[in-house]
Amino acid sequence: MPKVTYFSGQSLPLEMHKVRIIQKLTLLPIEERLAAVAKAGYNTFLLENKDVFLDMLTDSGVNAMSDRQQAAMLLADDAYAGSATFTRLHSKLREIFGMDYFLPAHQGRAAEHILAKTYVRPGSLVPMNYHFTTTKAHIVEVGGEVLELICPEGLSVDDPGDFKGNFDVAALDRLVAERGAESIAFVRVEAGTNLIGGQPFSLENLRQVRASCSRHGLILVMDASLLADNLYFIKEREAAAAHLSIPQITRAMADACDIVYFSARKLGFGRGGGICVRDQEIYKKMRGLVPMYEGFLTYGGMSVREMEAITVGLDETMDEDMINQGPQFIEHMVSELDSYGVPVVKPAGGLGAHVDAMRFLDHLPQTQYPAAALAGAVYLASGVRGMERGTMSEQRNPDGSEPMAHMELVRLAIPRRVFTLSQVSYAIDRLRWLHANRHLVGGLRWIEEPEILRFFYGRLEPIGDWAQELVAKFRADFGDSL
Ligand SMILES: Cc1ncc(COP(=O)(O)O)c(C=O)c1O
Repeated sequence: MPKVTYFSGQSLPLEMHKVRIIQKLTLLPIEERLAAVAKAGYNTFLLENKDVFLDMLTDSGVNAMSDRQQAAMLLADDAYAGSATFTRLHSKLREIFGMDYFLPAHQGRAAEHILAKTYVRPGSLVPMNYHFTTTKAHIVEVGGEVLELICPEGLSVDDPGDFKGNFDVAALDRLVAERGAESIAFVRVEAGTNLIGGQPFSLENLRQVRASCSRHGLILVMDASLLADNLYFIKEREAAAAHLSIPQITRAMADACDIVYFSARKLGFGRGGGICVRDQEIYKKMRGLVPMYEGFLTYGGMSVREMEAITVGLDETMDEDMINQGPQFIEHMVSELDSYGVPVVKPAGGLGAHVDAMRFLDHLPQTQYPAAALAGAVYLASGVRGMERGTMSEQRNPDGSEPMAHMELVRLAIPRRVFTLSQVSYAIDRLRWLHANRHLVGGLRWIEEPEILRFFYGRLEPIGDWAQELVAKFRADFGDSL
């Protein structure tokens, strides 16, 4: 998306694509939304999509595909072993990351499973800039411990830093000095840190992490699932990288790492994932787990059609006009919400607009899950489905105690090329209304709490009858409007 200034002086995002296939949406009346969210146990993961107007839960597997991706899917070469489709995908990955080996997997968490099983032992440490839910679950499952070494500004919702996903390299050096390099399974950097507002790291920071890993003989692994957004921010915000093209930045990032893995539900706009490896020995160490858990080495659980779509999607990720779309829509949404006083994570990151539930609902204690309550209230007020990214997304400690999340966020994801600006404007309007009525929103308590990844399918209920009060206020303010 180029920067276009309007006659009014405004600068609005302008889509560099047109919509040629559409899906009809419904917006239920608020009374029906109340019934739907109650049935879902106030967990937006459990809402049925037919009851959702704008699905801003995630970008995972729901970014819009291009005509070139759709066309490539028809040319797929179906073969269990050695399909030309796999060769095309492998060549594209080699071209953009410069790594010779590729292990396909059915999605990002499957890659995490393979990495954890290969490298993590009981008591191993895995330092990272910040955890992601599935990453942590796989590491903990095999007895490892995740250590978050994010730079201090990364945990501040409104520090103006450009690279709040940066790794605290001095903390990594200290960790090695205190616990020894042999206690560390690998070091993980996550591009576009999912759980703390989609904040990027800089190329310079990544190179410093690399230097530290080289000093201590540690393997550096990059989770590139949200690479597209991180690439955009490096290009936009890092002066030293401004002269580099997107493919050059991508290669520079990969050059700093030993392993790059990704969810192709995000990177490449398809379904699937995998692990790119530079060194043959490392590849061989992990290789056996692919046929065991995923599928043969030339598909790893992905269909050939998915692999064709990913190959083209990766190519399109190297196009600035393509990767700009998400961050520029998000920037627009964040600055509008901010101008109305709605607390949001700033500066705008990737993936989506992140509403700060801790400040939005500052009358609620964290033990009543403010982010989950706000996600439920957003759905009630608008039919927009966001995702809780706070304490509900944490896992209980082995002793049953509950860690409070660093942040209580509601993520309103902007899947790329899916929504129009008028739909985004509607979401902004309803959030603005909700913020004006925030005192009506109460907390939640568990009625069914699963042990593992509880946020996916746990069920909660409102404490008191705040949901009914919110519906009544909506009717009083909006009459019979949907
Ligand atoms: C940063 C990151 N890593 C890993 C994953 C897991 O990928 P998948 O959902 O394909 O299993 C995700 C998914 O959201 C992610 O955002």
